[in-house]
Amino acid sequence: MAVDTSTPALTSAIPHTKQETKKTLPIKAWYYNENDDHPSKPHQYSPNREVSTDHLQKLGVLTWTEIEADGYEQNKFLNKIKVSRCYSYEEVITVAPGKLPNFEANTKKFFMEHLHDHEEIRFILDGIGYEDVRDFDGQWIRIEIKKGDLIVLPPGMYHRFILDEKKYLKALLLYQGTPSRIQFEKNPETDAMEVRVAYVNSVLGPELESPPEKQHIAEPENHALAAAVKAMEAIRV
Ligand SMILES: [Fe+2]
Repeated sequence: MAVDTSTPALTSAIPHTKQETKKTLPIKAWYYNENDDHPSKPHQYSPNREVSTDHLQKLGVLTWTEIEADGYEQNKFLNKIKVSRCYSYEEVITVAPGKLPNFEANTKKFFMEHLHDHEEIRFILDGIGYEDVRDFDGQWIRIEIKKGDLIVLPPGMYHRFILDEKKYLKALLLYQGTPSRIQFEKNPETDAMEVRVAYVNSVLGPELESPPEKQHIAEPENHALAAAVKAMEAIRV
């Protein structure tokens, strides 16, 4: 069984240490083009409007790429992330017709805009899917997640998930403590949840919910970026 001992870097602008000589490709993310294509298609603008991992970090989204997925149980880097971020419970899910019970209903549910009161952590073991997250101004950003990618969405962030056209994704789901699979769909009640208010205040800025012309783009020195840097410093080998 393959054992990975390398140190995949956070796909970000955070300075690399001398140990991190391996270059990793950033996770792919772009602004979602609201065209008439089926949601499982890429929905890119022409030309594509890419979103950097640095920008994702400012929204509180952590990403790693090129982690060895085969034999992940023995992957030292992944295990270090689990320990440092207190991911004490895990389960494997396969989202595909015939593999996931109530496939149609569940995938429809995953694509409804929602949030969680905990981090959403996905390490992709096989296949491809899309996580869509809301930008500072409410636009959808589409993040492609594929084998070897690890993504962490912060509590209180609105998002949705869909498979790509191949309709197959196998992922390791990680949790801090007792797993909670509850998703809170977007509505005024969810908007008022403590976890949502905390995310808005600490990451998006107090003017998010104001009319578009008054929206304010958070400055780079926001809490989410600071938290991402802190998280990575804790994980560095
Ligand atoms: Fe979710």
